[in-house]
Amino acid sequence: MRIKTVALFSMIALVVVVGSVWSINQEPGDKVTKAAIMRLKLEPAKKILEGITLGDFQAVRKNAEQIRLLTLDESWMLVQTDDYRQQTKNFERSLNLLNRMCDEKDIEGVTLAYMQVTMRCVECHQRMRDLRK
Ligand code: HEC
Repeated sequence: MRIKTVALFSMIALVVVVGSVWSINQEPGDKVTKAAIMRLKLEPAKKILEGITLGDFQAVRKNAEQIRLLTLDESWMLVQTDDYRQQTKNFERSLNLLNRMCDEKDIEGVTLAYMQVTMRCVECHQRMRDLRK
C-alpha cells in the first residue's frame, strides 16, 4: 500500500515536471502573439464598414490593405493545411475585389465585396472550429 502510494506520487510528480517542461517548449508567449495578430484583423474590418457608410473609399482601401498585410505575416499560417491555404487564397481574392471596387468608386460593389470578405472570415473560423471537434 505504502509503496503504491509512493509510486503514485512519483508518477504525479513526473507528470507535473514533464508537463511544465512541455509547456516551456510550447512558448506560451508565442501563442499570445499569434492570437493578438489574429485579433488585429477585427479593427480594420470594422473601419471598412465605417468607410463604406461614409462613402470614404480611401479609408476602405487603407484598411483592406492593412488586413491583406496581416495575411502575409508568418503568424497567419498558424495552420499548415492545404485547406487553410485555400481559405487564405479565397480571402485574398475577396480583398483584391474590394480594392478594385474602391478604385472604381463603386459603392455597391464595395459593399458586396465587403460582405464577401466577411463571409470568408466566418467561413475560415467555422472550419477551424469544425477541425477542433
Ligand atoms: C484563412 C483563415 C482565416 C480568415 C480568412 C480569417 N481568420 Fe480570423 N482567425 C483565424 C485563425 C486560425 C484564428 C486563431 C484562432 C482559432 O484557432 O480559432 C483566428 C482568430 C481570429 C480572432 C480571435 C483572436 C483571439 O483573440 O482568439 C478574431 C477576432 C479574428 N480572427 C478576426 C477575423 C476577421 C475580422 C477576419 C476577416 C476580416 C478573419 N479573422 C479572417 C483564421 C482566419
